[in-house]
Amino acid sequence: MRSADLVVAGARELLTCAGPLPKRGRALADVGLVENGWVASSEGVIVYAGDEAGFLEEVRPGPGATTVDARDMVALPGFVDAHTHLPFAGDRAREFGLRVQGWTYRQLAERGMGILTTVKATRAASLDDLVALTLKRLDRMLLHGTTTAEAKSGYGLNLEDEMKQLEALRDAAALHPVDIVPTFMGAHEVPPEYRDRRWDYIALLVDTVIPEVGRSGLAEFFDVFCEPGVFSAEETRRLIAAARAAGFGIKVHADEFVSQGGAELAAEVGAVSAEHLIAVSDEGIARLAASETAAILLPGVSFFLMMDKRAPARRLVEAGAAVALATDFNPGSSHLFSMPFVLQLGVFTLGLTVGEAVNACTGNAAYAIRRHATVGSLEAGKRMDLVLCDVPDHVSLAYEAARNPVRTVIKNGRIVVADGRRASTPL
Ligand code: NIG
Ligand code: FE
Repeated sequence: MRSADLVVAGARELLTCAGPLPKRGRALADVGLVENGWVASSEGVIVYAGDEAGFLEEVRPGPGATTVDARDMVALPGFVDAHTHLPFAGDRAREFGLRVQGWTYRQLAERGMGILTTVKATRAASLDDLVALTLKRLDRMLLHGTTTAEAKSGYGLNLEDEMKQLEALRDAAALHPVDIVPTFMGAHEVPPEYRDRRWDYIALLVDTVIPEVGRSGLAEFFDVFCEPGVFSAEETRRLIAAARAAGFGIKVHADEFVSQGGAELAAEVGAVSAEHLIAVSDEGIARLAASETAAILLPGVSFFLMMDKRAPARRLVEAGAAVALATDFNPGSSHLFSMPFVLQLGVFTLGLTVGEAVNACTGNAAYAIRRHATVGSLEAGKRMDLVLCDVPDHVSLAYEAARNPVRTVIKNGRIVVADGRRASTPL
Protein backbone atom coordinates (compact mmCIF):
# COMPACT_ATOMS: atom_id res chain seq x y z
CA MET A 1 0.00 0.00 0.00
CA ARG A 2 1.23 3.48 -0.89
CA SER A 3 0.03 6.51 0.98
CA ALA A 4 -1.25 9.60 -0.86
CA ASP A 5 -2.12 13.18 0.08
CA LEU A 6 -3.82 14.00 -3.25
CA VAL A 7 -6.10 11.87 -5.39
CA VAL A 8 -7.51 12.70 -8.82
CA ALA A 9 -10.47 10.37 -8.92
CA GLY A 10 -12.21 8.73 -11.84
CA ALA A 11 -11.28 10.78 -14.89
CA ARG A 12 -13.46 9.87 -17.84
CA GLU A 13 -10.22 9.54 -19.81
CA LEU A 14 -6.76 9.59 -18.27
CA LEU A 15 -3.94 10.17 -20.75
CA THR A 16 -0.83 9.04 -18.91
CA CYS A 17 1.44 9.64 -21.94
CA ALA A 18 3.61 6.99 -20.26
CA GLY A 19 6.37 5.07 -22.01
CA PRO A 20 9.95 5.68 -23.03
CA LEU A 21 10.72 9.24 -24.09
CA PRO A 22 11.06 10.63 -26.64
CA LYS A 23 8.25 8.97 -28.56
CA ARG A 24 9.18 8.48 -32.19
CA GLY A 25 7.27 7.26 -35.23
CA ARG A 26 4.17 5.25 -34.44
CA ALA A 27 4.77 5.46 -30.70
CA LEU A 28 3.96 9.19 -30.87
CA ALA A 29 0.26 8.40 -31.23
CA ASP A 30 0.11 6.38 -27.99
CA VAL A 31 -1.29 8.52 -25.17
CA GLY A 32 -1.61 5.66 -22.67
CA LEU A 33 -5.37 6.06 -22.42
CA VAL A 34 -7.13 4.69 -19.31
CA GLU A 35 -10.88 5.01 -18.96
CA ASN A 36 -12.01 5.84 -15.42
CA GLY A 37 -8.45 6.77 -14.59
CA TRP A 38 -7.01 7.55 -11.15
CA VAL A 39 -3.84 9.43 -10.21
CA ALA A 40 -2.47 9.77 -6.69
CA SER A 41 0.49 11.68 -5.33
CA SER A 42 2.37 12.18 -2.10
CA GLU A 43 4.32 15.38 -1.42
CA GLY A 44 4.12 16.34 -5.08
CA VAL A 45 5.35 13.02 -6.47
CA ILE A 46 3.05 10.62 -8.30
CA VAL A 47 2.62 7.29 -6.50
CA TYR A 48 0.00 5.83 -8.81
CA ALA A 49 -1.56 6.44 -12.26
CA GLY A 50 -3.89 3.86 -13.76
CA ASP A 51 -7.27 2.23 -13.42
CA GLU A 52 -9.62 2.16 -10.43
CA ALA A 53 -8.99 -1.47 -9.46
CA GLY A 54 -5.24 -0.86 -9.26
CA PHE A 55 -5.82 2.30 -7.23
CA LEU A 56 -8.00 0.49 -4.68
CA GLU A 57 -5.45 -2.27 -4.40
CA GLU A 58 -2.31 -0.17 -4.16
CA VAL A 59 -3.12 3.24 -2.66
CA ARG A 60 -4.33 4.33 0.75
CA PRO A 61 -5.13 8.05 0.97
CA GLY A 62 -3.77 9.47 4.24
CA PRO A 63 -5.94 11.33 6.77
CA GLY A 64 -6.75 14.77 5.38
CA ALA A 65 -5.92 13.77 1.80
CA THR A 66 -7.52 15.95 -0.89
CA THR A 67 -9.68 14.27 -3.51
CA VAL A 68 -10.42 15.97 -6.82
CA ASP A 69 -13.48 14.65 -8.59
CA ALA A 70 -12.51 14.18 -12.25
CA ARG A 71 -15.60 12.29 -13.38
CA ASP A 72 -16.50 14.41 -16.39
CA MET A 73 -12.96 15.37 -17.26
CA VAL A 74 -10.04 14.32 -19.41
CA ALA A 75 -6.85 14.24 -17.32
CA LEU A 76 -3.42 14.66 -18.89
CA PRO A 77 0.09 15.78 -17.96
CA GLY A 78 0.61 19.52 -17.49
CA PHE A 79 1.67 21.08 -20.78
CA VAL A 80 5.36 21.74 -21.32
CA ASP A 81 5.97 24.81 -23.48
CA ALA A 82 9.46 24.10 -24.85
CA HIS A 83 10.07 27.40 -26.67
CA THR A 84 9.08 30.90 -25.53
CA HIS A 85 10.62 34.38 -25.58
CA LEU A 86 8.90 35.29 -22.33
CA PRO A 87 10.75 38.21 -20.70
CA PHE A 88 10.28 41.05 -23.20
CA ALA A 89 8.88 44.56 -22.81
CA GLY A 90 6.61 46.57 -25.08
CA ASP A 91 4.46 45.24 -27.88
CA ARG A 92 4.40 45.28 -31.66
CA ALA A 93 0.71 45.92 -32.27
CA ARG A 94 1.47 48.83 -34.61
CA GLU A 95 3.79 46.66 -36.68
CA PHE A 96 1.18 43.93 -36.70
CA GLY A 97 -1.15 46.52 -38.20
CA LEU A 98 1.40 47.08 -41.00
CA ARG A 99 1.68 43.34 -41.58
CA VAL A 100 -2.06 43.09 -41.91
CA GLN A 101 -1.75 45.69 -44.68
CA GLY A 102 0.75 43.50 -46.53
CA TRP A 103 4.20 44.21 -45.10
CA THR A 104 6.20 41.06 -44.42
CA TYR A 105 8.05 40.19 -41.20
CA ARG A 106 11.33 40.48 -43.14
CA GLN A 107 10.44 43.87 -44.60
CA LEU A 108 9.79 45.19 -41.10
CA ALA A 109 13.10 43.77 -39.87
CA GLU A 110 15.00 45.32 -42.80
CA ARG A 111 13.59 48.73 -41.84
CA GLY A 112 14.87 48.47 -38.27
CA MET A 113 11.60 47.27 -36.75
CA GLY A 114 10.80 43.68 -35.77
CA ILE A 115 13.09 42.21 -33.12
CA LEU A 116 14.89 45.55 -32.76
CA THR A 117 11.68 47.32 -31.70
CA THR A 118 11.47 44.89 -28.80
CA VAL A 119 15.18 45.28 -28.05
CA LYS A 120 14.67 49.02 -27.53
CA ALA A 121 11.69 48.48 -25.23
CA THR A 122 13.40 45.72 -23.28
CA ARG A 123 16.59 47.73 -22.77
CA ALA A 124 14.47 50.62 -21.47
CA ALA A 125 12.56 48.43 -19.00
CA SER A 126 13.67 47.94 -15.40
CA LEU A 127 14.18 44.55 -13.82
CA ASP A 128 10.99 45.08 -11.82
CA ASP A 129 9.05 45.89 -15.01
CA LEU A 130 10.23 42.65 -16.61
CA VAL A 131 9.43 40.59 -13.53
CA ALA A 132 5.89 42.01 -13.43
CA LEU A 133 5.35 41.36 -17.15
CA THR A 134 6.71 37.84 -16.85
CA LEU A 135 4.46 37.04 -13.87
CA LYS A 136 1.38 38.27 -15.71
CA ARG A 137 2.21 36.11 -18.72
CA LEU A 138 2.97 33.07 -16.56
CA ASP A 139 -0.47 33.42 -14.96
CA ARG A 140 -2.12 33.33 -18.38
CA MET A 141 -0.04 30.35 -19.44
CA LEU A 142 -0.93 28.48 -16.24
CA LEU A 143 -4.65 29.09 -16.86
CA HIS A 144 -4.12 27.33 -20.20
CA GLY A 145 -2.45 24.34 -18.55
CA THR A 146 1.26 25.09 -18.94
CA THR A 147 3.17 23.84 -15.90
CA THR A 148 6.74 24.03 -17.26
CA ALA A 149 8.07 26.59 -19.74
CA GLU A 150 11.37 27.19 -21.42
CA ALA A 151 12.08 30.94 -21.70
CA LYS A 152 14.71 32.73 -23.74
CA SER A 153 16.46 36.05 -23.32
CA GLY A 154 17.55 37.69 -26.59
CA TYR A 155 16.02 41.16 -26.51
CA GLY A 156 18.88 42.73 -24.57
CA LEU A 157 21.75 41.95 -26.95
CA ASN A 158 24.39 43.22 -24.54
CA LEU A 159 25.68 41.74 -21.31
CA GLU A 160 23.72 43.98 -18.96
CA ASP A 161 20.33 43.69 -20.63
CA GLU A 162 20.62 39.98 -21.39
CA MET A 163 21.45 39.43 -17.71
CA LYS A 164 18.47 41.60 -16.75
CA GLN A 165 16.15 39.36 -18.76
CA LEU A 166 17.62 36.23 -17.16
CA GLU A 167 17.39 37.78 -13.69
CA ALA A 168 13.73 38.57 -14.40
CA LEU A 169 13.18 34.90 -15.19
CA ARG A 170 14.94 33.86 -11.98
CA ASP A 171 12.92 36.30 -9.86
CA ALA A 172 9.60 35.46 -11.52
CA ALA A 173 10.24 31.73 -11.16
CA ALA A 174 10.72 32.17 -7.41
CA LEU A 175 7.24 33.74 -7.17
CA HIS A 176 5.26 31.53 -9.54
CA PRO A 177 4.24 27.88 -9.72
CA VAL A 178 5.23 27.42 -13.39
CA ASP A 179 8.73 25.94 -13.61
CA ILE A 180 10.99 27.97 -15.89
CA VAL A 181 13.89 26.55 -17.87
CA PRO A 182 16.04 29.56 -18.82
CA THR A 183 17.88 29.88 -22.13
CA PHE A 184 20.42 32.58 -23.00
CA MET A 185 19.84 33.89 -26.53
CA GLY A 186 22.27 36.78 -26.93
CA ALA A 187 22.65 35.45 -30.50
CA HIS A 188 19.06 36.31 -31.41
CA GLU A 189 20.12 39.18 -33.68
CA VAL A 190 23.01 41.58 -34.24
CA PRO A 191 22.20 44.75 -32.26
CA PRO A 192 21.94 48.04 -34.19
CA GLU A 193 25.16 49.46 -32.75
CA TYR A 194 27.07 46.53 -34.34
CA ARG A 195 25.24 46.58 -37.70
CA ASP A 196 28.36 47.46 -39.68
CA ARG A 197 30.77 45.35 -37.65
CA ARG A 198 28.94 42.14 -36.92
CA TRP A 199 32.20 40.27 -36.35
CA ASP A 200 32.82 42.50 -33.35
CA TYR A 201 29.46 41.50 -31.87
CA ILE A 202 30.24 37.83 -32.39
CA ALA A 203 33.65 38.36 -30.78
CA LEU A 204 31.98 40.15 -27.84
CA LEU A 205 29.61 37.21 -27.38
CA VAL A 206 32.38 34.64 -27.66
CA ASP A 207 34.99 36.40 -25.53
CA THR A 208 32.86 38.12 -22.88
CA VAL A 209 29.12 37.65 -22.81
CA ILE A 210 28.85 33.87 -23.21
CA PRO A 211 31.50 33.13 -20.54
CA GLU A 212 29.99 35.72 -18.14
CA VAL A 213 26.45 34.43 -18.49
CA GLY A 214 27.81 30.91 -18.14
CA ARG A 215 29.49 31.84 -14.85
CA SER A 216 26.30 33.49 -13.57
CA GLY A 217 24.45 30.17 -13.68
CA LEU A 218 21.33 32.06 -14.80
CA ALA A 219 20.74 30.00 -17.94
CA GLU A 220 20.90 26.30 -18.72
CA PHE A 221 20.79 26.47 -22.53
CA PHE A 222 22.28 28.66 -25.25
CA ASP A 223 20.23 29.37 -28.39
CA VAL A 224 21.23 31.00 -31.69
CA PHE A 225 19.11 32.20 -34.62
CA CYS A 226 20.78 30.31 -37.49
CA GLU A 227 19.17 31.91 -40.53
CA PRO A 228 20.44 33.70 -43.65
CA GLY A 229 20.69 37.39 -42.76
CA VAL A 230 20.95 36.72 -39.03
CA PHE A 231 23.77 34.28 -38.12
CA SER A 232 25.42 32.15 -40.81
CA ALA A 233 26.18 28.46 -40.33
CA GLU A 234 29.84 29.30 -39.79
CA GLU A 235 29.03 31.99 -37.20
CA THR A 236 26.59 29.61 -35.51
CA ARG A 237 29.33 26.98 -35.16
CA ARG A 238 31.70 29.47 -33.57
CA LEU A 239 29.04 30.63 -31.11
CA ILE A 240 28.06 27.08 -30.22
CA ALA A 241 31.67 26.12 -29.54
CA ALA A 242 31.97 29.04 -27.10
CA ALA A 243 28.65 28.17 -25.45
CA ARG A 244 29.71 24.54 -25.03
CA ALA A 245 32.94 25.63 -23.40
CA ALA A 246 30.91 27.80 -21.00
CA GLY A 247 28.82 24.79 -19.97
CA PHE A 248 25.56 25.46 -21.82
CA GLY A 249 23.33 22.86 -23.46
CA ILE A 250 22.67 23.88 -27.07
CA LYS A 251 19.45 24.85 -28.83
CA VAL A 252 19.21 26.21 -32.38
CA HIS A 253 16.57 28.35 -34.10
CA ALA A 254 16.98 26.48 -37.38
CA ASP A 255 15.47 26.78 -40.86
CA GLU A 256 12.66 29.13 -39.81
CA PHE A 257 12.29 30.82 -43.21
CA VAL A 258 15.19 29.64 -45.41
CA SER A 259 17.37 26.60 -44.85
CA GLN A 260 21.10 27.04 -44.56
CA GLY A 261 21.54 23.59 -43.09
CA GLY A 262 20.52 24.58 -39.55
CA ALA A 263 18.88 21.25 -38.72
CA GLU A 264 21.88 19.31 -40.03
CA LEU A 265 24.17 21.51 -37.98
CA ALA A 266 22.05 21.08 -34.83
CA ALA A 267 22.14 17.30 -35.18
CA GLU A 268 25.86 17.29 -35.93
CA VAL A 269 26.81 19.31 -32.84
CA GLY A 270 24.49 17.26 -30.61
CA ALA A 271 22.09 20.12 -29.88
CA VAL A 272 19.26 19.33 -27.49
CA SER A 273 16.81 20.69 -30.07
CA ALA A 274 16.38 22.29 -33.48
CA GLU A 275 13.45 24.70 -33.38
CA HIS A 276 11.09 26.07 -36.09
CA LEU A 277 12.10 23.93 -39.13
CA ILE A 278 9.52 25.40 -41.51
CA ALA A 279 12.14 25.28 -44.27
CA VAL A 280 14.03 22.14 -43.13
CA SER A 281 15.69 20.18 -45.98
CA ASP A 282 15.26 16.46 -46.71
CA GLU A 283 18.77 15.92 -45.41
CA GLY A 284 17.92 17.87 -42.26
CA ILE A 285 14.91 15.63 -41.63
CA ALA A 286 17.05 12.51 -42.03
CA ARG A 287 19.79 13.85 -39.75
CA LEU A 288 17.32 14.84 -37.01
CA ALA A 289 15.61 11.46 -37.20
CA ALA A 290 18.94 9.70 -36.66
CA SER A 291 19.90 11.95 -33.73
CA GLU A 292 18.96 12.76 -30.14
CA THR A 293 18.13 16.32 -31.21
CA ALA A 294 14.43 17.09 -30.71
CA ALA A 295 12.49 18.81 -33.50
CA ILE A 296 10.43 21.57 -31.87
CA LEU A 297 7.71 22.77 -34.23
CA LEU A 298 6.03 26.14 -33.68
CA PRO A 299 2.82 26.21 -35.71
CA GLY A 300 1.88 29.56 -34.17
CA VAL A 301 4.50 31.20 -36.43
CA SER A 302 3.00 30.11 -39.77
CA PHE A 303 -0.40 31.06 -38.37
CA PHE A 304 0.61 34.42 -36.95
CA LEU A 305 2.74 35.42 -39.95
CA MET A 306 -0.02 34.22 -42.28
CA MET A 307 2.38 31.95 -44.17
CA ASP A 308 1.32 29.16 -46.48
CA LYS A 309 4.48 27.25 -45.63
CA ARG A 310 4.47 25.01 -42.57
CA ALA A 311 6.92 22.70 -40.92
CA PRO A 312 6.76 19.19 -42.47
CA ALA A 313 5.48 17.57 -39.30
CA ARG A 314 4.25 14.34 -40.87
CA ARG A 315 7.51 13.71 -42.66
CA LEU A 316 9.46 14.39 -39.47
CA VAL A 317 7.26 11.99 -37.46
CA GLU A 318 7.41 9.29 -40.10
CA ALA A 319 11.18 9.61 -40.44
CA GLY A 320 11.44 9.03 -36.66
CA ALA A 321 12.38 12.48 -35.37
CA ALA A 322 11.51 13.38 -31.75
CA VAL A 323 8.77 15.90 -32.57
CA ALA A 324 7.55 18.41 -29.99
CA LEU A 325 5.21 21.41 -30.23
CA ALA A 326 5.59 24.80 -28.52
CA THR A 327 4.13 28.31 -28.66
CA ASP A 328 7.23 30.42 -29.54
CA PHE A 329 5.42 33.08 -27.50
CA ASN A 330 6.98 36.41 -28.59
CA PRO A 331 5.70 39.85 -29.65
CA GLY A 332 6.55 39.59 -33.35
CA SER A 333 6.11 36.19 -34.97
CA SER A 334 3.84 34.27 -32.56
CA HIS A 335 1.99 36.45 -30.09
CA LEU A 336 0.19 33.56 -28.42
CA PHE A 337 0.77 31.55 -25.27
CA SER A 338 -1.96 28.90 -25.29
CA MET A 339 -0.75 25.31 -25.50
CA PRO A 340 -4.31 24.03 -26.15
CA PHE A 341 -4.34 26.32 -29.21
CA VAL A 342 -0.91 25.05 -30.29
CA LEU A 343 -2.19 21.48 -29.90
CA GLN A 344 -5.11 22.42 -32.14
CA LEU A 345 -2.80 24.07 -34.69
CA GLY A 346 -0.72 20.89 -34.66
CA VAL A 347 -3.80 18.97 -35.73
CA PHE A 348 -5.44 21.51 -38.05
CA THR A 349 -2.35 22.93 -39.77
CA LEU A 350 0.42 20.33 -39.43
CA GLY A 351 -1.59 17.15 -39.96
CA LEU A 352 -0.83 15.53 -36.61
CA THR A 353 -3.37 13.24 -35.02
CA VAL A 354 -4.79 14.38 -31.69
CA GLY A 355 -2.80 11.72 -29.84
CA GLU A 356 0.42 12.76 -31.58
CA ALA A 357 -0.23 16.40 -30.74
CA VAL A 358 -0.88 15.55 -27.07
CA ASN A 359 2.46 13.73 -26.77
CA ALA A 360 4.21 16.53 -28.67
CA CYS A 361 2.91 19.04 -26.09
CA THR A 362 3.78 16.92 -23.03
CA GLY A 363 6.33 14.06 -22.98
CA ASN A 364 8.26 14.98 -26.11
CA ALA A 365 8.21 18.64 -25.13
CA ALA A 366 9.72 17.67 -21.77
CA TYR A 367 12.38 15.71 -23.65
CA ALA A 368 13.09 18.76 -25.81
CA ILE A 369 14.18 20.69 -22.70
CA ARG A 370 15.61 17.60 -20.99
CA ARG A 371 13.05 17.52 -18.19
CA HIS A 372 11.57 14.16 -19.20
CA ALA A 373 12.91 12.38 -16.11
CA THR A 374 10.58 14.44 -13.91
CA VAL A 375 7.68 15.80 -16.01
CA GLY A 376 5.81 15.21 -19.28
CA SER A 377 3.93 12.04 -18.34
CA LEU A 378 1.83 10.73 -15.46
CA GLU A 379 3.85 7.87 -14.02
CA ALA A 380 4.88 6.88 -10.51
CA GLY A 381 8.02 8.78 -9.52
CA LYS A 382 7.34 11.86 -11.66
CA ARG A 383 6.09 15.23 -10.44
CA MET A 384 2.34 15.57 -9.96
CA ASP A 385 1.80 18.13 -12.77
CA LEU A 386 -1.66 17.45 -14.16
CA VAL A 387 -4.45 19.26 -15.96
CA LEU A 388 -8.15 18.47 -16.09
CA CYS A 389 -10.04 19.49 -19.22
CA ASP A 390 -13.81 19.57 -19.45
CA VAL A 391 -14.14 17.78 -22.76
CA PRO A 392 -15.95 14.47 -23.27
CA ASP A 393 -12.92 12.69 -24.73
CA HIS A 394 -9.37 13.54 -25.78
CA VAL A 395 -10.25 13.96 -29.47
CA SER A 396 -12.39 16.90 -28.36
CA LEU A 397 -9.23 18.69 -27.17
CA ALA A 398 -8.92 19.60 -30.88
CA TYR A 399 -12.50 19.11 -32.00
CA GLU A 400 -13.69 21.88 -29.68
CA ALA A 401 -11.47 24.24 -31.62
CA ALA A 402 -10.37 27.66 -30.36
CA ARG A 403 -11.45 26.86 -26.83
CA ASN A 404 -9.42 26.63 -23.63
CA PRO A 405 -10.74 23.41 -22.06
CA VAL A 406 -8.48 23.59 -18.97
CA ARG A 407 -10.44 23.81 -15.69
CA THR A 408 -8.02 22.48 -13.08
CA VAL A 409 -4.24 22.64 -12.92
CA ILE A 410 -2.18 20.77 -10.37
CA LYS A 411 1.49 21.72 -10.08
CA ASN A 412 3.83 19.71 -7.87
CA GLY A 413 0.80 18.23 -6.13
CA ARG A 414 -0.85 21.58 -5.38
CA ILE A 415 -4.07 22.82 -6.94
CA VAL A 416 -3.07 26.12 -8.60
CA VAL A 417 -6.05 26.53 -10.93
CA ALA A 418 -9.54 25.51 -9.86
CA ASP A 419 -12.69 26.00 -11.90
CA GLY A 420 -10.69 27.88 -14.53
CA ARG A 421 -9.32 30.47 -12.06
CA ARG A 422 -6.05 30.87 -10.18
CA ALA A 423 -6.43 29.16 -6.80
CA SER A 424 -5.09 31.21 -3.93
CA THR A 425 -2.88 28.56 -2.32
CA PRO A 426 0.41 30.13 -1.24
CA LEU A 427 3.62 28.83 -2.79
O1 NIG B 1 11.27 32.55 -32.76
N1 NIG B 1 13.12 33.64 -34.86
C1 NIG B 1 13.50 34.49 -34.09
N2 NIG B 1 12.91 34.84 -32.98
C2 NIG B 1 11.54 34.81 -32.77
C3 NIG B 1 10.90 36.06 -33.21
C4 NIG B 1 11.19 37.14 -32.32
C5 NIG B 1 10.55 38.44 -32.65
O2 NIG B 1 10.02 38.65 -33.75
O3 NIG B 1 10.59 39.25 -31.74
C6 NIG B 1 10.95 33.58 -33.34
O4 NIG B 1 10.19 33.58 -34.30
FE1 FE C 1 11.70 31.64 -31.22
